[in-house]
Amino acid sequence: MCGIIGAICETNVTPLLIEGLKKLEYRGYDSAGVAVETAEGLKRVRAEGKIAALEEKLAETPLAGFSGVGHTRWATHGAPAERNAHPHKSPCGRFLVVHNGIIENAAEIKRSLLPAGSVFESETDTETAAHLLTKFYDGDPVAAIARTLSVMEGSFALGVLCADFPDTLFAAAFGSPLVAALGKDGAYIASDAGALPEAPEEIYSLKDREIVSLTRGSLRFYNEKGEAIEKTPAQVRVQALSVDKGGYEHHMLHEIHQQPEAVRATLAGLLGPEGIDLSGSGLTEDFIKNELERIVIVACGSAYHTGLCAKRLFEGKARIPCSAEIASEFRYADPVIDRHTLAIFVSQSGETADTLAALRLCKEKGAKALSIVNVALSAIAAESEGVILTQAGREIAVATTKAYSAQLSVFYALAIRFAALRGAIGSAEEKALTHALAELPERIAEAIDSTKQTAETLAGRLFEAKDMFFIGRQLDEAAAAEASLKMKEISYLNSQAYAAGELKHGTISLVEPGTPVIVLATQDAISAKTRANLAEVKARGAFTVAVTTRALAPAFAEADEVIVLPDVCQWFTCSLAVVPMQLLSYYTAKRRGCSIDQPKNLAKSVTVE
Ligand code: M6R
Repeated sequence: MCGIIGAICETNVTPLLIEGLKKLEYRGYDSAGVAVETAEGLKRVRAEGKIAALEEKLAETPLAGFSGVGHTRWATHGAPAERNAHPHKSPCGRFLVVHNGIIENAAEIKRSLLPAGSVFESETDTETAAHLLTKFYDGDPVAAIARTLSVMEGSFALGVLCADFPDTLFAAAFGSPLVAALGKDGAYIASDAGALPEAPEEIYSLKDREIVSLTRGSLRFYNEKGEAIEKTPAQVRVQALSVDKGGYEHHMLHEIHQQPEAVRATLAGLLGPEGIDLSGSGLTEDFIKNELERIVIVACGSAYHTGLCAKRLFEGKARIPCSAEIASEFRYADPVIDRHTLAIFVSQSGETADTLAALRLCKEKGAKALSIVNVALSAIAAESEGVILTQAGREIAVATTKAYSAQLSVFYALAIRFAALRGAIGSAEEKALTHALAELPERIAEAIDSTKQTAETLAGRLFEAKDMFFIGRQLDEAAAAEASLKMKEISYLNSQAYAAGELKHGTISLVEPGTPVIVLATQDAISAKTRANLAEVKARGAFTVAVTTRALAPAFAEADEVIVLPDVCQWFTCSLAVVPMQLLSYYTAKRRGCSIDQPKNLAKSVTVE
């Protein structure tokens, strides 16, 4: 939520800021702005809407200078209007500030400043930080930032320009991601290392109210009191964010097609010559065999949906009690967890605020914390005891596809190995499942090829629907949850996912003649029950689509449309069932003229609670 970029270099900084903002646009696209230290002093240009609107304004009012900051906003306080766009100015005009996060006590700070005559020009929480900087400034910007941080509550990353120090850029962070980096051509700050304009020679992640001052060739770090500190550079390979769509019309379609590779690359880190190798995960065989009593999977959105699927495997196949929890609920639920609990945190971005808070809670309670993340230089990765990195490559479309698939593949590997270690399956079955897992990327590729045309045609039939339902049982219920989220997220069409057997306990009253009901049915053991549920909605006039396997297709022939998936082991069906659903959402959103990669009101990474 919100993206910050800052640079100090030897060439005009504005194009670098704009390029960085384009890469950060996934973090929010309500408004954008840049501030530059120009020959005439500090200047800013801001625009409502996407970076393209800012570029248009900059074409009319160019800014040139060697240091500057940029911001792309996901609105929290105040409408997405230009007056609320960052950078925000201090009353004296000495400071220009960009901010990511939420200053939770902004209203109190504002109230405390009003009696001294402070006038606020925006409705943002950020402007209070700019006012505090003026209040605390006595010639030392680092000291003013330290005092400002001591007053602010919440989570924040700040980039600050000070007119009195034109050759220096300042930044600070607490709870929101921010990296500071030194490159060959300059020094930089960014909310995401992937947005840096060059491969960094040194890179640092800021935390705990740390402050940094950057000049062209140096970074100096300070603690929350403004005292100089030493920091060790992070040892990570930075994955650059790309705005390339690989020849596809949208990032989402590109990323759907990248799924086989994302899964292949992720599994490459987990499948060794002897089978599944979890040695890099920080989990010991002894813990899995003898100490583990319970698994909790904590995540948000689609990442949570991978947990719903994994729960079925850990519990149903590996025979380990398991629950999947929504992070924003779990963290306030006073959950029963202890050192015999394995808590697994799933996050593409590695910075989702609620997931991070849940991770901290589980660690406090003594649980073993393993995270499955796609961004190595992220808070969740940094704070977990064990990390399994998905190798999906950077995902740009707000609607996740390839990261979701990569997360599922990690869960399959864990579930198979856990089942074997706990004696729930024998070594021959483990071998067979591992072999099938290694072939999953090909099956996903086949699913993309074989269902794409049907999904596009079907979208032409469904795009004007008022409501839509996705139903399934067990693993299919988990896949239905993801299918439904994809549909509503990008096509703005009201859709609901339901356990197929639960529909008749209330929701079926919404089914009218022509209402689309997509029935996911890949599980042999319960297919007869799901077929009965299909019959129930059909009897009420629903337009039914069955997504099923070759073996089950004849049983679902009464559906108005049948999508047949490539053959795959029953454990992995979620990975295939979701593919035509991703494509259906994509083509439906396209027919509805929606902004597919940047749906309204959303941002790719959710760093506010
Ligand atoms: O970065 P994370 O995986 O932690 O993000 C979690 C959710 O915000 C995310 O999966 C969201 O639901 C997606 N936009 C859905 O496509």
